[in-house]
Amino acid sequence: MNDSNLIKAEIKAGEIAVRNASKSYGTAQFTKEVVKDCSFTIERGKLTVMIGPSGCGKSTLIRLLAGFEQPTSGTLELNGKHIEGPGRDRLVLFQETALFPWMTTYDNILYGPRAR
Ligand SMILES: Nc1ncnc2c1ncn2[C@@H]1O[C@H](COP(=O)(O)OP(=O)(O)O)[C@@H](O)[C@H]1O
Ligand SMILES: [Mg+2]
Repeated sequence: MNDSNLIKAEIKAGEIAVRNASKSYGTAQFTKEVVKDCSFTIERGKLTVMIGPSGCGKSTLIRLLAGFEQPTSGTLELNGKHIEGPGRDRLVLFQETALFPWMTTYDNILYGPRAR
């Protein structure tokens, strides 16, 4: 990517705002709260990394941000707009089975957009 493309990518990158988001699975009797009252902002054009032990809810938060699932309560916004479902403005790279091991990370990321 050359400098002008980098700048364009930075301008296009959105701000994500998670406000008091909670996510539970299961029925009322056997409910499991996986994400509890979670709030943070991911600034525009910044590389943001989420770390935590296995099972702490990272992938659940990713599914909420991707719009694959809805929070039990709270809100998730991209550029001030409520995330209602999956969209072309977000891309999820799955850890297993959906990567091409012979391609670079960069080519894996670009595989979807190139295929469109
Ligand atoms: N669809 C689901 N139904 C029930 N429990 C789930 C579901 N998805 C995730 N969980 C549980 O939520 C917890 C967090 O999972 P996950 O978000 O995958 O954690 P991480 O990605 O941080 O390892 C785990 O205990 C997991 O078993
Ligand atoms: Mg995970």
